[in-house]
Amino acid sequence: MTRKEFLALLAASSATRAFAETAAVPDASKPPAAPAKVPAAPLKLPAIQPGKPYLQAGPMVGHVGPAEARIWIRATAPVPWSVRIGESAGLEDAREIPGPVVAETNACTATAIIEGLKPGTHYFYQVLLEDRPQTVAPLPSFTTSPESGMQGRQRIAFGSCVGETAASAAGAWAELAERREMGAKAGGFDLLLMLGDNHYANTTEAAKQRTYYTAHRLSAGWRDLSAHTPVYAIWDDHDFGPDNSDGTQKGKETSLQVFKEFWANPSAGEPENPGCYFTFTRGDVQFFMLDGRYHRSPDKAPDTAEKTMFGAAQLAWLKRELLASKAVFKILANGSEWQTFGSDDSYSIYRQERDPFLAWIDEQKIEGIIFLSGDRHFSSAYHILNRFVELSSGPFGSTNARLRPNPERFSGYDEGSLWMILDIDTTGPQPQLAYELWLGGGGLLERRSLSWDQLHGKEPIAASPAPLQPTRWPARPATPKTA
Ligand SMILES: [Fe+2]
Repeated sequence: MTRKEFLALLAASSATRAFAETAAVPDASKPPAAPAKVPAAPLKLPAIQPGKPYLQAGPMVGHVGPAEARIWIRATAPVPWSVRIGESAGLEDAREIPGPVVAETNACTATAIIEGLKPGTHYFYQVLLEDRPQTVAPLPSFTTSPESGMQGRQRIAFGSCVGETAASAAGAWAELAERREMGAKAGGFDLLLMLGDNHYANTTEAAKQRTYYTAHRLSAGWRDLSAHTPVYAIWDDHDFGPDNSDGTQKGKETSLQVFKEFWANPSAGEPENPGCYFTFTRGDVQFFMLDGRYHRSPDKAPDTAEKTMFGAAQLAWLKRELLASKAVFKILANGSEWQTFGSDDSYSIYRQERDPFLAWIDEQKIEGIIFLSGDRHFSSAYHILNRFVELSSGPFGSTNARLRPNPERFSGYDEGSLWMILDIDTTGPQPQLAYELWLGGGGLLERRSLSWDQLHGKEPIAASPAPLQPTRWPARPATPKTA
């Protein structure tokens, strides 16, 4: 089958589903039964080769601010290491920053914090173990973020659910790595948010989690993508513990320790309140990356005032941060969905916490809120209570779940590897926001601008045409052959 025929088949199958969906009686309360599936064999890592230590995974760029950057590695054995960094592609102007200790107790992972950088500047870097370079020319590079508060345009890629095998999301990583610097029209982006189910170890056991994190990081596409792109992550159930796990989960402290080993976020939780949550600002956009698992009440608990997804301390932190924020857009990202008709593992069954929080946002006249989520193995956009916009993105690599009728949804797609890009521009008199939905191997499914009034419930949002059609934007611009 040719690629064209394959895509035509995809489009036809989507059309059939979309018709069935609109013809069905809306019943958002029960997900359809999942087909029985054979569990994948546990992931394993290649054996460590004899000789001197080398990079088992990484380098990966984590948090990048206007003046600092974080570079993560996993080495095959304890070893002194360093990062050389400079603005010249050949590192003629480089300085060398020693990395923190790489030890067996941290699975030989470490994150170097590089300070004293200039905002909006392109840097090249090289990782050395002892004096042996682990990255070769052309060296990996990244761009520091604009100054906090500065107006500008930024494109934010986000998604979830990488799939159960190392191969599941490998194609998505390779395509994202290709598109990263191809410009706005070809799906380029400035940073990547991983919104949970970043592996499917389904346990709090440290050794298995470390293997699963690393297995995904060995794919060529991920290595390319993450060596150049600031990557930020929160978790959802499968990379926190078992399916639909919550704050009662034994061993959650171990999950948090491993999470911190494998991501290079700016921070995690607060001194008195553990968790993976944190905030960071890029220009005049502030991100609130939330932990919906560590303090979560069980999904099955009665929906009373005590039932919580975030825990009182995290929610109080979030409110404090929102009140203090001067950002034009405030991006609130969680693994679970925020919308009213979500699954039995979403905020829809935590209404006694959700609804007062949403009301509080309006009482405090906080503007520019956008909700992000993942988890569902399809991508969709919602107008929650005809007031707030939520964009739910995924899966990078997991098998799909089907969209179901939902009165709050105004767009969606549920076939293939999917991710979204938020395109924000605050340079004009009115802040601009558009979202894009991308299909791995299929191109842009939808780009849609939402007005400030739509983002604030003052103007309705009409449903997008269904089914969305892939446009097959080329992965690479054609290069004329020379004789
Ligand atoms: Fe998932």
